[in-house]
Amino acid sequence: MDVVSIDAVLAELSLEEKLSLTSGVKFWYTKPIERLGVPSVMLTDGPHGLRKQRQGADHLGIGDSVPATCFPPAVALGSSWDVALVERVGAALATEAALEHVAVVLGPGINIKRSSLCGRNFEYLSEDPVLCGVLGAALVTGIQSRGVGASVKHFAANNQESDRMRVSADIDPRPLREIYLRGFQRVVEDAQPWTVMCSYNRINGVYASQDAWLLTQVLRREWGFDGVVVSDWGAVTDPIASLGAGLDLEMPGSPSDADVLAAVRDGSLDQQCVDDAAARILRLVDRAQAGAALATPPAAGAHHALAREAAGRSIVLLKNDGGILPLAKHVNLAVIGEFAVHPRYQGGGSSMIKPTRLDNALDEIRSLATGDVVLAAGFSSAVDVSSDESTRLRQEALTAAESADVTVVFLGLPARLESEGYDRDDIDLPAHQLQLLAAVLEVNPNTAVVLSNGGVVALPFAAEVPAILEGWLLGQAGGGAIADVLFGEVNPSGKLTETIPVRLADTPAYLDFPGEFSHVRYGEGLFVGYRWYDTRDIEVTFPFGHGLSYNTFEYGTATAVVNEDGDIEVGVVVTNTGPVAGREVVQVYTALPGSRITRPRRELKAFASVALDRGESREVTVTVRRKELAYWDTRVDRWVVEAGTYTVDVAASSRDVRTSVQVDVDGDPVTIPLSRSSSIGEVLAHPVAGPILQSAMASAMAGAGEAAAIMPDGVDLARLLNSFPIGQVGMLAAGSGAEVDPAMIDALLAAANADDEGTAAHALD
Ligand code: BGC
Repeated sequence: MDVVSIDAVLAELSLEEKLSLTSGVKFWYTKPIERLGVPSVMLTDGPHGLRKQRQGADHLGIGDSVPATCFPPAVALGSSWDVALVERVGAALATEAALEHVAVVLGPGINIKRSSLCGRNFEYLSEDPVLCGVLGAALVTGIQSRGVGASVKHFAANNQESDRMRVSADIDPRPLREIYLRGFQRVVEDAQPWTVMCSYNRINGVYASQDAWLLTQVLRREWGFDGVVVSDWGAVTDPIASLGAGLDLEMPGSPSDADVLAAVRDGSLDQQCVDDAAARILRLVDRAQAGAALATPPAAGAHHALAREAAGRSIVLLKNDGGILPLAKHVNLAVIGEFAVHPRYQGGGSSMIKPTRLDNALDEIRSLATGDVVLAAGFSSAVDVSSDESTRLRQEALTAAESADVTVVFLGLPARLESEGYDRDDIDLPAHQLQLLAAVLEVNPNTAVVLSNGGVVALPFAAEVPAILEGWLLGQAGGGAIADVLFGEVNPSGKLTETIPVRLADTPAYLDFPGEFSHVRYGEGLFVGYRWYDTRDIEVTFPFGHGLSYNTFEYGTATAVVNEDGDIEVGVVVTNTGPVAGREVVQVYTALPGSRITRPRRELKAFASVALDRGESREVTVTVRRKELAYWDTRVDRWVVEAGTYTVDVAASSRDVRTSVQVDVDGDPVTIPLSRSSSIGEVLAHPVAGPILQSAMASAMAGAGEAAAIMPDGVDLARLLNSFPIGQVGMLAAGSGAEVDPAMIDALLAAANADDEGTAAHALD
């Protein structure tokens, strides 16, 4: 169907048929209109592979589904900071979707990791909105390049699982725009997703599914979204309100067509809302039909190989003292921990994939090693393990560690601790794992730790263990990727997309998570993730953006120029000074010293993942878009770039700035008319009214003589007056026996607002 035929079909549809299109059927499908040849299309999870259910239908990951490649979940893939790689993964998973006749993959999830405790953090990309936006857009671009739609979710402010179907995320306008909506905006503007999925929760008291401001004003009018807004599964409780607000497709279905019909008939719901939703769904169906024709099967093994490549690029080398890694292939190894054999490779809930195959690290280590590799489970994550059994497992591990050259200990979170549907209670690894590690270190200090976890964990052993690999949840080929990195077949290049805090109590949302009585106040405001730790100088275990390589990289001196579009072009020469090829993620942060508004110490604005051969130097150019410099100005309800000399930090983490440069940026004009409630400070800062008031105040002070002396010593009169409303200045003057005619003040303000210097000059005469 082209636009003409969509219009033609629409013209043929009865109101009942249009309405029927606006809700799903059989859990995963849109409804067909058979008499006009409009087929039903399938939308299904996502987001790190396809979960197409075979029998039964549920959104909790319970029923069996067709095998699909399990790529690294977002927590891992995001750590690559690599747009091209992420796009390739998106394209591959969409190919599998297209071959299974799936029209829309329900992902990516790009919610901000507000609290380390969020049970679904493994499905999300970062604590930073630019990173979420750029990588989210890459996934959408990749998916849609194969003629399959993406569904960017969960729009918006779904940052916790506790009470997720009711809770109101109570967020001030600046953090809402600058942190929680910014990533969605970037994805919508850059990648035009076919669909956006609204979240279950409320935002400032209004259900996302019924929020006309969110779904129509912001998403469609401000950002230009032209696709379908689909509900999260079961998120609609009032279909009339939802259609009226701009929701197009209620999933998995609606029992209330008759009520909605009655509402249209009695005029309480504008029929245009139903017409618009039906038109958008027809367009989605049309796009999906065109896309299905593009599907060609991948070469055998190609997607598993891509899953391994992506997993290798997702691993973050947190620490590597004394160059204990990479391992020489001939060393004798003790491999300890059940995760080496039974990997945790994805999280629980609606995103659970049935993998096409599953590698484990032990087999992959054995296939690369030439020395002895001894396995010891060390501990059991089973709940009912006896203490005798625990002691036996531990003893076996210590014996293995004692006689090995190097010990590799696999630690991680048991699967039941993190899932969709609930949050974690703490960020701790199980105590028995920590005790085992401490005992292993005593018998063999040559120990590397490999972590498997979907949300960050505290690392109380970070100072004692020479090497730590953060393996997150790496998908079905993670075992091979871990072996690749351990032996240096892959040079690690992943970087943290979230800070690893020392303690839960240090985390920004600690006092406001998960809220109470169905309200959660985002009290930390803009200060999410590293914006919090860095601005407050809070010690962290590993900072945002951190990640080592087996190499070292040197940065030259950064340059920055504003181009004709107002964007900042940042240039820096990066040199691989290590013995092997590698990748570095160049991170660009900005700050505005002396800013008029509250700002974090520095904020990520752009980045680039750069591959460099041994000894290679390259000039890297990274563009900071002008719009990324903007803050949300609550006085005028729009984005504003503040004028000034910005500091551009080029860094290897939020705390490892390698080179800085200053650049002047012109600001956006903001005109706030003066009124009686403007402060004296604001009037003094006004180009027209300021100088006139200044001289009037100077002569009034001179004239007041002794009266002015009533101010006690030590009071800074200028500062005191600064925040005094000009409309009330008469009261001040009266205290010193003078009189101020309010009409004179009004005349000054009116002349200033009209930019009329001539009239203003005489207003106070
Ligand atoms: C989840 C969505 C998912 C949907 C369908 C919901 O419970 O929040 O992310 O796409 O179920 O499975």
